Amino acid sequence: MSVAAQPALPVAVLVSGRGSNMVAIARACARGAINARIVRVIADRADAAGIDKARELGLEARVIAAKQFPDRAGFEAALQSEIEASGARLVVLAGFMRILSGEFVARHAGAMLNIHPSLLPKFTGLHTHERAIAAGEARHGASVHFVTGELDGGPLLRQARVPVLPGDTPPSLSARVQVAEHIIYPEVIGWIAAGRLVAREGLPWLDGRPLRQPVVTDEETHP
Ligand code: GRF
Repeated sequence: MSVAAQPALPVAVLVSGRGSNMVAIARACARGAINARIVRVIADRADAAGIDKARELGLEARVIAAKQFPDRAGFEAALQSEIEASGARLVVLAGFMRILSGEFVARHAGAMLNIHPSLLPKFTGLHTHERAIAAGEARHGASVHFVTGELDGGPLLRQARVPVLPGDTPPSLSARVQVAEHIIYPEVIGWIAAGRLVAREGLPWLDGRPLRQPVVTDEETHP
């Protein structure tokens, strides 16, 4: 008896900049490492380099320029329509530099992820690499979390730690963190696509158990 393969999880990726995480996710989909497919890449600004990269990869990419809307509600309505039109069942924020309203976030509860370049709850917000170096941290890293109304505050799912090395600058540390991001973000999407990770009553469950702490690994080997 053959078992029908599960259809790939349709994912919308929202970007504002470079889009290197989007590319890592697209590659993981393309090589079959995760059972997902990017059905839309959406940028909130026309000059987001991620849009060109998405098109080069043959992905459906759209710009919904926030500045063309009189207010956030108008922008979010257009964003919501595009997500619905794409058929996405998971929304992935990948360097999306815009704070979404509580209403928008609630609509995607348990189905929207973010990646943040720090070991949350340390260093929410911007300039995380500068702040980690200034604080004399021995380790820094990246966190994947479900998005809630609290900025960088949703349930943590996965973290990768990297060392802060003597002589590190924000760019050198950022490059090390990004290598780790490109591993853990596709991985978490893969968990969701495989039905291993779900949100129930605001709490993540992984493999049938409540996930009270993120899954953490050390990525010591990267540059
Ligand atoms: C990443 O460092 C991510 O953690 C943060 O924004 C950056 C996006 O990088 N949220 P990219 O656009 O995916 O290259």
